[in-house]
Amino acid sequence: MKKSRIIATGVYLPEKVLTNADLEKMVDTSDEWIVSRTGMKERRIARDDEYTSDMGAAAAERCLESIDMPKDKVDCIITATLTPDYIFPSTACVIQNKLKIKGVACFDIQAACTGFIYALSIAKAYVDSGTYKNVLVVTSEKLSSIVDYTDRSTCVLFGDGASAVLVSAEGDGLEVTSVCLGADGEQADLLYMPGGGCRNPASRETVDKGLHYLKMSGNEVFKHAVRRMESAAKECLAIAKIEEKDVSWVVPHQANVRIIDAIARRFEHLSSDRIYKTVHKYGNTSCSSIGLALDELMKKGNVSNNEHLLLTAFGSGFTWGASILTYRKGNDS
Ligand code: ACO
Repeated sequence: MKKSRIIATGVYLPEKVLTNADLEKMVDTSDEWIVSRTGMKERRIARDDEYTSDMGAAAAERCLESIDMPKDKVDCIITATLTPDYIFPSTACVIQNKLKIKGVACFDIQAACTGFIYALSIAKAYVDSGTYKNVLVVTSEKLSSIVDYTDRSTCVLFGDGASAVLVSAEGDGLEVTSVCLGADGEQADLLYMPGGGCRNPASRETVDKGLHYLKMSGNEVFKHAVRRMESAAKECLAIAKIEEKDVSWVVPHQANVRIIDAIARRFEHLSSDRIYKTVHKYGNTSCSSIGLALDELMKKGNVSNNEHLLLTAFGSGFTWGASILTYRKGNDS
Protein backbone atom coordinates (compact mmCIF):
# COMPACT_ATOMS: atom_id res chain seq x y z
CA MET A 1 0.00 0.00 0.00
CA LYS A 2 1.18 3.54 -0.80
CA LYS A 3 1.02 6.19 1.93
CA SER A 4 -0.59 9.37 0.73
CA ARG A 5 0.91 12.74 1.59
CA ILE A 6 -0.20 16.33 1.16
CA ILE A 7 2.82 17.59 -0.79
CA ALA A 8 1.58 21.09 -1.68
CA THR A 9 -0.98 23.65 -0.52
CA GLY A 10 -2.40 26.85 -2.00
CA VAL A 11 -5.10 29.35 -1.11
CA TYR A 12 -7.10 32.17 -2.60
CA LEU A 13 -8.82 34.95 -0.66
CA PRO A 14 -10.91 37.68 -2.28
CA GLU A 15 -9.54 41.21 -1.90
CA LYS A 16 -12.62 42.81 -0.36
CA VAL A 17 -12.52 42.91 3.45
CA LEU A 18 -15.82 43.16 5.36
CA THR A 19 -15.07 44.46 8.86
CA ASN A 20 -17.22 44.48 11.96
CA ALA A 21 -17.50 48.25 11.52
CA ASP A 22 -18.99 47.65 8.04
CA LEU A 23 -21.50 45.20 9.54
CA GLU A 24 -22.49 47.76 12.19
CA LYS A 25 -23.77 49.90 9.31
CA MET A 26 -25.77 47.02 7.80
CA VAL A 27 -27.53 45.39 10.81
CA ASP A 28 -28.17 46.02 14.51
CA THR A 29 -24.85 44.65 15.81
CA SER A 30 -21.58 45.85 17.33
CA ASP A 31 -17.89 45.08 17.10
CA GLU A 32 -17.99 44.25 20.82
CA TRP A 33 -20.79 41.64 20.34
CA ILE A 34 -19.15 40.01 17.33
CA VAL A 35 -15.67 39.83 18.88
CA SER A 36 -16.88 38.58 22.27
CA ARG A 37 -19.32 35.97 20.81
CA THR A 38 -17.27 34.78 17.83
CA GLY A 39 -13.69 36.15 17.91
CA MET A 40 -14.20 37.51 14.37
CA LYS A 41 -12.90 40.93 13.34
CA GLU A 42 -13.16 40.73 9.56
CA ARG A 43 -13.87 38.36 6.72
CA ARG A 44 -13.31 38.34 2.91
CA ILE A 45 -16.14 38.75 0.40
CA ALA A 46 -15.92 37.73 -3.28
CA ARG A 47 -16.78 40.18 -6.07
CA ASP A 48 -20.18 39.77 -7.73
CA ASP A 49 -18.44 38.36 -10.82
CA GLU A 50 -16.08 36.10 -8.84
CA TYR A 51 -17.43 32.57 -8.39
CA THR A 52 -16.62 29.49 -6.35
CA SER A 53 -14.86 27.94 -9.37
CA ASP A 54 -12.70 31.06 -9.93
CA MET A 55 -11.50 31.03 -6.32
CA GLY A 56 -10.98 27.25 -6.38
CA ALA A 57 -9.03 27.38 -9.66
CA ALA A 58 -6.82 30.21 -8.31
CA ALA A 59 -6.04 28.21 -5.14
CA ALA A 60 -5.31 25.11 -7.25
CA GLU A 61 -2.94 27.06 -9.57
CA ARG A 62 -1.01 28.36 -6.55
CA CYS A 63 -0.89 24.89 -5.01
CA LEU A 64 0.62 23.29 -8.15
CA GLU A 65 2.96 26.24 -8.82
CA SER A 66 4.38 26.02 -5.28
CA ILE A 67 6.11 22.75 -6.21
CA ASP A 68 6.37 23.32 -9.99
CA MET A 69 3.98 20.42 -10.58
CA PRO A 70 2.84 20.33 -14.23
CA LYS A 71 -0.95 20.36 -14.47
CA ASP A 72 -0.97 17.25 -16.68
CA LYS A 73 0.31 15.22 -13.72
CA VAL A 74 -3.01 15.70 -11.87
CA ASP A 75 -5.12 12.49 -12.13
CA CYS A 76 -8.30 13.57 -10.35
CA ILE A 77 -9.95 16.73 -8.98
CA ILE A 78 -12.27 16.54 -5.96
CA THR A 79 -14.05 19.75 -4.98
CA ALA A 80 -15.79 20.26 -1.65
CA THR A 81 -18.32 23.08 -1.54
CA LEU A 82 -21.82 23.95 -0.38
CA THR A 83 -21.94 26.96 -2.70
CA PRO A 84 -21.30 25.37 -6.12
CA ASP A 85 -21.40 27.50 -9.29
CA TYR A 86 -24.38 25.38 -10.42
CA ILE A 87 -26.45 22.49 -9.03
CA PHE A 88 -24.93 20.69 -12.02
CA PRO A 89 -22.41 20.25 -13.58
CA SER A 90 -20.00 19.85 -10.69
CA THR A 91 -17.77 22.76 -9.73
CA ALA A 92 -14.82 20.34 -10.07
CA CYS A 93 -15.58 20.11 -13.83
CA VAL A 94 -15.73 23.92 -14.10
CA ILE A 95 -12.41 24.16 -12.25
CA GLN A 96 -10.87 21.49 -14.50
CA ASN A 97 -11.80 23.59 -17.54
CA LYS A 98 -10.36 26.76 -15.98
CA LEU A 99 -7.11 24.92 -15.21
CA LYS A 100 -7.06 23.56 -18.80
CA ILE A 101 -6.57 20.02 -17.53
CA LYS A 102 -8.08 17.49 -19.96
CA GLY A 103 -9.88 14.24 -19.36
CA VAL A 104 -9.20 13.47 -15.69
CA ALA A 105 -11.90 12.40 -13.21
CA CYS A 106 -13.70 15.33 -11.53
CA PHE A 107 -16.49 15.40 -8.97
CA ASP A 108 -17.87 17.42 -6.06
CA ILE A 109 -18.60 16.27 -2.55
CA GLN A 110 -20.95 17.99 -0.12
CA ALA A 111 -20.20 17.65 3.57
CA ALA A 112 -20.55 21.36 4.46
CA CYS A 113 -17.86 22.55 6.89
CA THR A 114 -16.46 19.01 7.16
CA GLY A 115 -15.85 18.96 3.38
CA PHE A 116 -12.07 19.25 3.59
CA ILE A 117 -11.72 16.12 5.73
CA TYR A 118 -14.30 14.12 3.72
CA ALA A 119 -12.54 15.03 0.45
CA LEU A 120 -9.14 14.25 1.97
CA SER A 121 -10.36 10.79 2.98
CA ILE A 122 -11.36 10.03 -0.63
CA ALA A 123 -8.04 11.33 -1.98
CA LYS A 124 -6.22 9.16 0.58
CA ALA A 125 -8.17 6.06 -0.51
CA TYR A 126 -7.35 6.68 -4.19
CA VAL A 127 -3.64 7.28 -3.56
CA ASP A 128 -3.16 4.54 -0.93
CA SER A 129 -4.79 1.99 -3.25
CA GLY A 130 -2.73 3.07 -6.26
CA THR A 131 -5.83 4.16 -8.23
CA TYR A 132 -4.37 7.66 -8.75
CA LYS A 133 -0.96 9.21 -8.08
CA ASN A 134 -1.87 12.89 -7.75
CA VAL A 135 -5.28 13.97 -6.47
CA LEU A 136 -6.10 17.65 -6.24
CA VAL A 137 -8.49 18.46 -3.39
CA VAL A 138 -10.07 21.89 -3.78
CA THR A 139 -12.36 23.55 -1.25
CA SER A 140 -14.09 26.76 -2.25
CA GLU A 141 -16.98 28.72 -0.78
CA LYS A 142 -18.84 31.83 -1.84
CA LEU A 143 -20.97 31.88 1.31
CA SER A 144 -21.82 35.54 0.73
CA SER A 145 -24.11 34.26 -2.07
CA ILE A 146 -26.37 32.40 0.43
CA VAL A 147 -26.12 34.69 3.47
CA ASP A 148 -29.01 37.02 4.31
CA TYR A 149 -27.33 40.37 5.05
CA THR A 150 -30.43 41.52 6.96
CA ASP A 151 -30.16 38.63 9.47
CA ARG A 152 -27.68 39.67 12.17
CA SER A 153 -27.57 36.19 13.71
CA THR A 154 -25.87 34.72 10.63
CA CYS A 155 -24.47 37.50 8.43
CA VAL A 156 -21.63 38.40 10.79
CA LEU A 157 -20.27 34.83 10.77
CA PHE A 158 -19.37 33.88 7.24
CA GLY A 159 -16.65 34.70 4.71
CA ASP A 160 -15.52 33.57 1.25
CA GLY A 161 -12.30 31.81 0.24
CA ALA A 162 -10.69 28.74 -1.28
CA SER A 163 -7.91 26.28 -0.56
CA ALA A 164 -6.25 23.45 -2.48
CA VAL A 165 -4.00 20.57 -1.48
CA LEU A 166 -2.23 18.03 -3.68
CA VAL A 167 -2.41 14.50 -2.26
CA SER A 168 0.31 12.31 -3.77
CA ALA A 169 2.09 9.01 -3.51
CA GLU A 170 5.54 10.63 -3.59
CA GLY A 171 7.20 13.72 -2.12
CA ASP A 172 7.91 15.39 1.21
CA GLY A 173 4.82 16.46 3.05
CA LEU A 174 2.03 15.66 5.47
CA GLU A 175 1.28 11.94 5.50
CA VAL A 176 -2.43 11.29 5.99
CA THR A 177 -1.96 8.95 8.95
CA SER A 178 -5.61 8.47 9.90
CA VAL A 179 -9.07 9.81 9.09
CA CYS A 180 -12.40 9.43 10.98
CA LEU A 181 -15.76 10.53 9.61
CA GLY A 182 -19.31 10.66 10.98
CA ALA A 183 -22.76 12.11 10.37
CA ASP A 184 -26.25 12.44 11.88
CA GLY A 185 -28.96 13.32 9.38
CA GLU A 186 -31.60 13.67 12.11
CA GLN A 187 -30.30 17.17 12.89
CA ALA A 188 -30.28 18.41 9.30
CA ASP A 189 -32.74 21.28 9.81
CA LEU A 190 -30.63 22.98 12.48
CA LEU A 191 -28.31 24.26 9.76
CA TYR A 192 -29.49 24.22 6.15
CA MET A 193 -30.69 26.09 3.09
CA PRO A 194 -34.33 25.15 2.47
CA GLY A 195 -34.71 26.47 -1.09
CA GLY A 196 -33.25 25.69 -4.50
CA GLY A 197 -33.34 21.87 -4.37
CA CYS A 198 -36.19 19.62 -5.59
CA ARG A 199 -38.12 20.04 -2.32
CA ASN A 200 -38.49 23.81 -2.76
CA PRO A 201 -37.46 24.57 -6.35
CA ALA A 202 -36.71 28.23 -7.04
CA SER A 203 -39.91 30.24 -7.45
CA ARG A 204 -41.19 33.72 -6.68
CA GLU A 205 -42.58 32.29 -3.42
CA THR A 206 -39.29 30.71 -2.28
CA VAL A 207 -37.49 34.00 -2.93
CA ASP A 208 -40.19 36.01 -1.12
CA LYS A 209 -39.84 33.68 1.89
CA GLY A 210 -36.02 33.91 1.81
CA LEU A 211 -35.66 30.13 1.43
CA HIS A 212 -32.52 30.61 -0.68
CA TYR A 213 -30.63 31.81 2.42
CA LEU A 214 -28.70 29.74 4.96
CA LYS A 215 -30.70 29.14 8.19
CA MET A 216 -29.02 28.20 11.46
CA SER A 217 -30.07 27.51 15.07
CA GLY A 218 -26.74 28.84 16.35
CA ASN A 219 -27.04 27.75 19.97
CA GLU A 220 -27.93 24.16 19.16
CA VAL A 221 -25.24 23.91 16.50
CA PHE A 222 -22.67 25.27 18.96
CA LYS A 223 -23.26 22.44 21.47
CA HIS A 224 -23.14 19.70 18.85
CA ALA A 225 -20.04 21.23 17.24
CA VAL A 226 -18.01 21.13 20.47
CA ARG A 227 -19.07 17.58 21.34
CA ARG A 228 -18.56 16.10 17.87
CA MET A 229 -15.23 17.80 17.12
CA GLU A 230 -13.87 16.59 20.45
CA SER A 231 -15.04 12.99 20.00
CA ALA A 232 -13.89 12.78 16.36
CA ALA A 233 -10.45 14.10 17.34
CA LYS A 234 -10.12 11.62 20.23
CA GLU A 235 -11.28 8.69 18.06
CA CYS A 236 -8.76 9.62 15.38
CA LEU A 237 -5.92 9.83 17.90
CA ALA A 238 -6.86 6.39 19.25
CA ILE A 239 -6.93 4.84 15.76
CA ALA A 240 -3.51 6.30 14.96
CA LYS A 241 -2.20 5.26 18.44
CA ILE A 242 -0.98 8.81 19.00
CA GLU A 243 -1.31 10.55 22.35
CA GLU A 244 -2.59 14.09 22.86
CA LYS A 245 0.77 15.23 24.19
CA ASP A 246 2.44 14.15 20.92
CA VAL A 247 0.32 16.49 18.78
CA SER A 248 2.26 19.61 17.72
CA TRP A 249 -0.65 21.55 16.23
CA VAL A 250 -4.43 21.29 16.16
CA VAL A 251 -6.06 22.81 13.09
CA PRO A 252 -9.80 22.93 13.80
CA HIS A 253 -12.65 24.14 11.60
CA GLN A 254 -12.80 27.88 12.25
CA ALA A 255 -16.50 28.42 13.09
CA ASN A 256 -16.19 30.47 16.26
CA VAL A 257 -13.29 31.12 18.65
CA ARG A 258 -15.52 30.07 21.59
CA ILE A 259 -16.07 26.66 19.96
CA ILE A 260 -12.31 26.31 19.40
CA ASP A 261 -11.54 27.31 23.02
CA ALA A 262 -14.23 24.95 24.37
CA ILE A 263 -12.63 22.07 22.46
CA ALA A 264 -9.17 23.03 23.74
CA ARG A 265 -10.45 22.82 27.34
CA ARG A 266 -11.58 19.24 26.74
CA PHE A 267 -8.04 18.10 25.99
CA GLU A 268 -5.90 17.76 29.09
CA HIS A 269 -2.52 17.68 27.36
CA LEU A 270 -2.98 20.12 24.46
CA SER A 271 -1.84 23.63 25.20
CA SER A 272 -4.12 26.31 23.75
CA ASP A 273 -1.24 28.11 21.97
CA ARG A 274 -0.92 24.99 19.79
CA ILE A 275 -4.44 25.42 18.40
CA TYR A 276 -4.08 27.28 15.11
CA LYS A 277 -6.62 30.08 14.57
CA THR A 278 -7.49 32.23 11.57
CA VAL A 279 -11.14 32.85 12.49
CA HIS A 280 -10.44 36.48 13.51
CA LYS A 281 -9.44 37.47 9.97
CA TYR A 282 -11.45 35.18 7.68
CA GLY A 283 -14.61 34.30 9.70
CA ASN A 284 -16.24 30.93 9.00
CA THR A 285 -15.34 29.93 5.43
CA SER A 286 -17.02 26.51 5.82
CA CYS A 287 -14.96 23.71 4.22
CA SER A 288 -12.18 26.14 3.22
CA SER A 289 -11.30 27.06 6.78
CA ILE A 290 -9.00 24.11 7.54
CA GLY A 291 -7.17 24.43 4.19
CA LEU A 292 -6.64 28.17 4.73
CA ALA A 293 -5.23 27.59 8.21
CA LEU A 294 -3.11 24.60 7.14
CA ASP A 295 -1.51 26.54 4.28
CA GLU A 296 -0.62 29.42 6.61
CA LEU A 297 0.80 27.09 9.26
CA MET A 298 2.94 25.17 6.75
CA LYS A 299 4.23 28.32 5.03
CA LYS A 300 5.40 29.70 8.39
CA GLY A 301 7.71 26.66 8.52
CA ASN A 302 6.52 25.70 11.98
CA VAL A 303 6.20 21.95 11.33
CA SER A 304 9.25 19.65 11.54
CA ASN A 305 9.88 16.07 10.51
CA ASN A 306 7.67 13.45 12.23
CA GLU A 307 5.50 16.06 13.98
CA HIS A 308 1.76 15.31 14.14
CA LEU A 309 -1.07 17.68 13.24
CA LEU A 310 -4.67 17.05 14.31
CA LEU A 311 -7.52 18.34 12.12
CA THR A 312 -11.12 18.34 13.38
CA ALA A 313 -14.30 19.69 11.81
CA PHE A 314 -18.07 19.86 12.16
CA GLY A 315 -20.77 21.11 9.83
CA SER A 316 -24.27 20.94 8.44
CA GLY A 317 -25.77 17.49 8.00
CA PHE A 318 -24.67 17.15 10.74
CA THR A 319 -21.27 15.92 9.59
CA TRP A 320 -18.01 15.67 11.47
CA GLY A 321 -14.52 14.32 11.00
CA ALA A 322 -10.92 14.40 12.11
CA SER A 323 -7.55 13.51 10.66
CA ILE A 324 -3.99 13.05 11.86
CA LEU A 325 -1.32 14.35 9.49
CA THR A 326 2.36 13.52 10.11
CA TYR A 327 5.14 15.50 8.44
CA ARG A 328 7.46 13.14 6.55
CA LYS A 329 10.63 13.81 4.59
CA GLY A 330 12.03 11.35 2.05
CA ASN A 331 11.10 7.74 2.70
CA ASP A 332 10.54 8.14 6.47
CA SER A 333 7.38 6.49 7.80
N1 ACO B 1 -25.26 41.26 17.09
C1 ACO B 1 -25.87 41.54 18.26
N2 ACO B 1 -26.71 40.69 18.87
C2 ACO B 1 -26.93 39.50 18.25
C3 ACO B 1 -26.32 39.15 17.04
C4 ACO B 1 -25.46 40.08 16.45
N3 ACO B 1 -24.81 39.85 15.30
N4 ACO B 1 -26.73 37.91 16.68
C5 ACO B 1 -27.56 37.48 17.65
N5 ACO B 1 -27.69 38.45 18.60
C6 ACO B 1 -28.48 38.42 19.81
C7 ACO B 1 -29.64 37.45 19.74
O1 ACO B 1 -30.76 38.06 19.11
C8 ACO B 1 -29.88 37.17 21.21
O2 ACO B 1 -30.59 38.25 21.75
P1 ACO B 1 -31.74 37.98 22.85
O3 ACO B 1 -31.01 37.36 24.02
O4 ACO B 1 -32.27 39.32 23.10
O5 ACO B 1 -32.70 37.03 22.20
C9 ACO B 1 -28.46 37.21 21.82
O6 ACO B 1 -27.66 37.94 20.87
C10 ACO B 1 -27.84 35.86 22.06
O7 ACO B 1 -27.99 35.08 20.87
P2 ACO B 1 -27.44 33.61 20.80
O8 ACO B 1 -27.82 33.00 19.48
O9 ACO B 1 -27.83 32.87 22.03
O10 ACO B 1 -25.86 33.89 20.82
P3 ACO B 1 -24.69 32.87 20.96
O11 ACO B 1 -23.86 33.25 22.10
O12 ACO B 1 -25.16 31.42 20.87
O13 ACO B 1 -23.84 33.14 19.65
C11 ACO B 1 -23.47 32.21 17.45
C12 ACO B 1 -24.44 32.95 18.39
C13 ACO B 1 -22.26 33.07 17.28
C14 ACO B 1 -24.15 31.97 16.13
C15 ACO B 1 -23.07 30.85 18.08
O14 ACO B 1 -24.22 30.19 18.54
C16 ACO B 1 -22.32 29.94 17.14
O15 ACO B 1 -21.19 30.19 16.77
N6 ACO B 1 -22.92 28.78 16.76
C17 ACO B 1 -22.25 27.75 15.98
C18 ACO B 1 -21.99 28.07 14.56
C19 ACO B 1 -21.30 26.88 13.91
O16 ACO B 1 -20.50 26.20 14.51
N7 ACO B 1 -21.60 26.51 12.71
C20 ACO B 1 -20.96 25.26 12.26
C21 ACO B 1 -20.77 25.01 11.03
S1 ACO B 1 -21.26 26.21 9.85
C22 ACO B 1 -21.59 25.31 8.41
O17 ACO B 1 -21.63 24.11 8.36
C23 ACO B 1 -21.92 26.15 7.21
